[in-house]
Amino acid sequence: MIRTALATTLAVLAACAAAAQDAPDAEARRDHYVTWCASCHGMEGRGDGTMAPILSVLPTDLTQLAADAGGAFPWMRVARQIDGRDPFLAHGGVMPLFGDFFAGDPAAPEAALKLPDGQPMVTTRTIAELLVYLDTIQE
Ligand code: HEC
Repeated sequence: MIRTALATTLAVLAACAAAAQDAPDAEARRDHYVTWCASCHGMEGRGDGTMAPILSVLPTDLTQLAADAGGAFPWMRVARQIDGRDPFLAHGGVMPLFGDFFAGDPAAPEAALKLPDGQPMVTTRTIAELLVYLDTIQE
């Protein structure tokens, strides 16, 4: 229920807020994951991607992020790990694997998520889409 509510509160700020077609759909959210994350974390997020056998540190099982954080999906922590504020070596460190993709388009609107504690979180649209997807795969 909470996840559904979060997905529906994903809102686009700025001028085109009224354009309903700008709301990201589920397929687009999963596409970001498959393109940028699945090679290591696996198609279903379980840490069993095709590259996992050649990595010396195993990719995290992304379906357990909420469980490992005491039951609440760690929105802020994951956002920081993807947007580069909290870089780590497995994701390229100071040379992020994702290039500029999750940095968003400076000309494009950002997105606001309403977190379960009621606080708003403003991030790029691509990160917001990815986070909403990751929240849906939590077990
Ligand atoms: C090149 C392989 C690779 C790719 C691609 C990759 N990851 Fe990871 N990721 C890892 C590895 C390995 C770890 C474990 C790092 C560690 O434990 O030090 C990890 C850890 C994480 C963590 C857990 C960090 C924590 O706090 O424990 C998150 C969240 C994560 N990745 C999300 C993503 C997302 C989202 C994407 C796509 C945008 C992605 N990763 C792409 C290899 C990858």
